[in-house]
Amino acid sequence: MKTLIKNGKLITASETFQADILIEDEKISRIGLGLKADSAQVVDASGKLILPGGVDPHTHFDLPMFDTVSSDDHYTGHKAAAFGGTTTAMDFASFDFDTMKESVDAWMKKAEKAAIDYSFHMNFNKFNDKIAKEIPSLRDMGITTLKVFTAYNGRLRLDDSSIFKTLQITKDNGMLVMVHCENGDVIDVLVPQALAAGHMSPEWHALTRPAWGAVDATLKMASMSAQADAPVYIVHMNVGGEVDMLRYARERGVKVMGETCPQYLFFTIDDLRRPDGAKWICSPPMRTEKDNARIWEGLHDGTFQTIGTDHCPFFFDGTKPIIYEGKPVKIPGKELGKDDFTKIPNGLPAVGDRLPILWTYGVRAGKITANQFVAYTSTNPAKIMGLYPRKGALLPGSDADIVIWDPEKRVKYGVTYSHHRTDYNLFEGWNVIGMPEKVFLRGKLIVDGDEWLGKSGQGQFLKRNEGEVL
Ligand code: URP
Ligand code: ZN
Ligand code: ZN
Repeated sequence: MKTLIKNGKLITASETFQADILIEDEKISRIGLGLKADSAQVVDASGKLILPGGVDPHTHFDLPMFDTVSSDDHYTGHKAAAFGGTTTAMDFASFDFDTMKESVDAWMKKAEKAAIDYSFHMNFNKFNDKIAKEIPSLRDMGITTLKVFTAYNGRLRLDDSSIFKTLQITKDNGMLVMVHCENGDVIDVLVPQALAAGHMSPEWHALTRPAWGAVDATLKMASMSAQADAPVYIVHMNVGGEVDMLRYARERGVKVMGETCPQYLFFTIDDLRRPDGAKWICSPPMRTEKDNARIWEGLHDGTFQTIGTDHCPFFFDGTKPIIYEGKPVKIPGKELGKDDFTKIPNGLPAVGDRLPILWTYGVRAGKITANQFVAYTSTNPAKIMGLYPRKGALLPGSDADIVIWDPEKRVKYGVTYSHHRTDYNLFEGWNVIGMPEKVFLRGKLIVDGDEWLGKSGQGQFLKRNEGEVL
C-alpha cells in the first residue's frame, strides 16, 4: 500500500523545507519535490506542516498507586497520545517480581492492548549482586534504560553506592541510567512534621518536597555521572537550580542529559493552593514562576535535551463516572486524599497535551523554534533512547510515523480535545492554535481530524539499541 503526502512543509530537528513524502507499507520510501506514484492514495497537505510522530520518553500507564491505579491504560493513554500527535510512548515497568524478566513480562501483558508503538524503562528500586548480574539481560530484551530514585525512601530509593555500581554496569553494557532527583531524607523529615502540625492541604505536598532537594540530587547525579564516566538522564526537571546544575556539568563535558515536562513550564505552587489544587499534585511538585522562566531559558538555549510528559493521570473526583467510548467509567482518584495530601495519588494527565500546548505557548510564543520543538519532543528522545532513525525522523527508511499538523487550527483546549481517560485537563479553556490534523502510525492513518481509526493491539513493542549521548 502506498500513500503520497503532497505539498506539505517538513519540519525536522534541524531543517524546514517543502517536499512530498511517499509512504510504502510501513516506511517512508521517498522524500522530494514533485513526487509521483501511480497507485498511491494522495493526501494534499497544502498549507500544513509535516512532523515526525512525537516520541514521549516518560509515561505511567496502568500504574498502581496507593489504593488506586493511573486511569489511562496502554490503550486509552496511547489513543490520547495519538490524538496529540505522539506515536511512540515509553513507560516505566515496575520491578515487582524477583527477576527483571518477570517484571518486564508483567508490563508486556498490560501493553498487549497498545495502540501506538512502545517501549519500557525498568524502575530500578532494589540492588544486590544477583540483580546486578541480571542488568545486561534487560538489554537483550531490548530495554536499555533503568530509572533510579534518590527519593521515595523505603519504597523506590537506592543508596548512592548502589546507584554508582549501577552506573558502572550500565556504562559497560551500553545502557542508560535515568534518575528521579529529590532529597528523600529531607522529605522524610518534613512530611511527618507537616502532618503533626495539622497541615493537610495540597500545597504541603510541595512545601515538604523542597526545590533545593531536587537541586542537590541533580548535582549529585551529575557528579556520579562524571565519576563513573557513564551517561545519566535526569527526568522531569522542575527547578531553575537544576537547570543551572545541568548546564554546569555539561559545560565540563559530563554526559548528563535533561528532560523537563509541560507542567513545569506553566504551573506553580499557587495552583496547589486552589480549591481544586489536588489536580496539580505530582512528584516532583510545581515550583515558582522563576523556575518556569529558567526552564524556558534552558529550552531556548539548548541546555535541555528532551520534553517528556510524566503522564500519570488520576480522576479529580473518582466517585463520579465519565463516559469513555460510550460507557461510564470511574476510577478512584485524587479524592482519596481530600483530608490528607499524602494520600493524593501523585501524577497528572499530559500525554495528549504536550505537542498542542508546546506549539502554541512555545513555538508561536517565540520561546523555542519549530525545529527545537521537533528535537525536544521526537528526535532527541528517539536518539537518546536508541530508537533513531526508526523513530523521530522524516527520512527514507524510517517508520512512517507522520503528523500532518494544521498550524492555523484554533480550539478552546480541554478534556474534549485531550482524550485522556480522566475527568479534568490542566489546560482547560486555554486557547490553542495548531493541532494535529492527521496522524499516521507506520503508514496507517490512525487519527483523522476528530475521528479515531486506530485500535487496541496495533502498537508494537520496540526493541531498542544503545542510545546516543546528546
Ligand atoms: O507524580 C508522579 N510523577 N508520578 C509518577 C512517578 C514518577 O516519579 O515519575
Ligand atoms: Zn520520577
Ligand atoms: Zn514519572
